Amino acid sequence: MSISTFQLGNRHVHRIGYGAMQLAGPGAFGPPKDTAAALAVLREAVALGVDHLDTSDFYGPHITNQLIREALHPYRDELVIVTKVGALRDNDGSWKAAFSGDELERAVHDNLRNLKLDVLEVVNLRVMIDVHGPAEGSIDAPLSTLAELQQRGLIRHIGLSNVTRAQVAQGRSITDIVCVQNQYNLAHRRDDALIDELAASGIPYVPFFPLSGFTPLQSSALSGVAKRLDATPMQVALAWLLQRSPNLLLIPGTSSVAHLRENIASASLELASEDLAVLDRMAR
Ligand SMILES: NC(=O)c1ccc[n+]([C@@H]2O[C@H](COP(=O)([O-])OP(=O)(O)OC[C@H]3O[C@@H](n4cnc5c(N)ncnc54)[C@H](OP(=O)(O)O)[C@@H]3O)[C@@H](O)[C@H]2O)c1
Repeated sequence: MSISTFQLGNRHVHRIGYGAMQLAGPGAFGPPKDTAAALAVLREAVALGVDHLDTSDFYGPHITNQLIREALHPYRDELVIVTKVGALRDNDGSWKAAFSGDELERAVHDNLRNLKLDVLEVVNLRVMIDVHGPAEGSIDAPLSTLAELQQRGLIRHIGLSNVTRAQVAQGRSITDIVCVQNQYNLAHRRDDALIDELAASGIPYVPFFPLSGFTPLQSSALSGVAKRLDATPMQVALAWLLQRSPNLLLIPGTSSVAHLRENIASASLELASEDLAVLDRMAR
């Protein structure tokens, strides 16, 4: 893979990684339709040079981490697996907060066991004050629990997910925050100021739903730029994120080897200023 890298914790990773959520069943719940296909996507990602894998034990639950272990363990030294804690799944797949000290510690142990690791490289605290988007409120207690687990050697680095700028500032006053993972893509740009603040501090911003998640982006502006560049709309959406700021680390999700290859190839796409002007209209 010939794309640039950015620091994540004390490692450097390629700016296109892979998000494993789509490998579980529909809605990231239950087993995949085709386990062999899911394992093939993970193996191909690493073969193509992906060294940043995003997951959680609440995908499945447990199933995505178990697929990662089956496909990739023992892990290559350069592979950074980032997981997240703070949520649980109900029997019907709905998401609920799991922020107590016991729940967070159990989640860390679930990740360690299912990924077959002795220490988790990066753990994001997934804030659940509002499951659908960042909402103000203190994160002192759950973040202090993670900092204690870090001191006990179970976690190497801590990140935050689904957070406001105030929560990032609060988090940084409690412990080192090595990444922030929030929703951001061509059509959803609420974090522009936060991205710039983090860039100034050398902290990566990892946009989740980079292609807009379960319903990928669709727009005539995007299709027009893609046609002009002889690329696909999803490649243009990823190239735009790569060009947005050097601290963006991408983790597009897919259950398809063909889409995975296409997504990684977006690294070679260059958007001209007239393309950027057209794409800017998508956010309005
Ligand atoms: N922190 C959080 O709260 C949070 C929330 C959501 C997600 N995440 C993380 O972010 C990662 C990325 O998000 P995501 O996977 O939900 O959404 P995404 O990357 O925005 O989009 C995934 C969707 O796009 C489709 N897709 C991918 N590549 C494509 C291509 N080249 N052409 C056409 N369609 C394509 C996928 O379908 P196919 O399977 O058919 O390719 C899937 O439906 C997740 O895997 C997860 O690790 C974190």
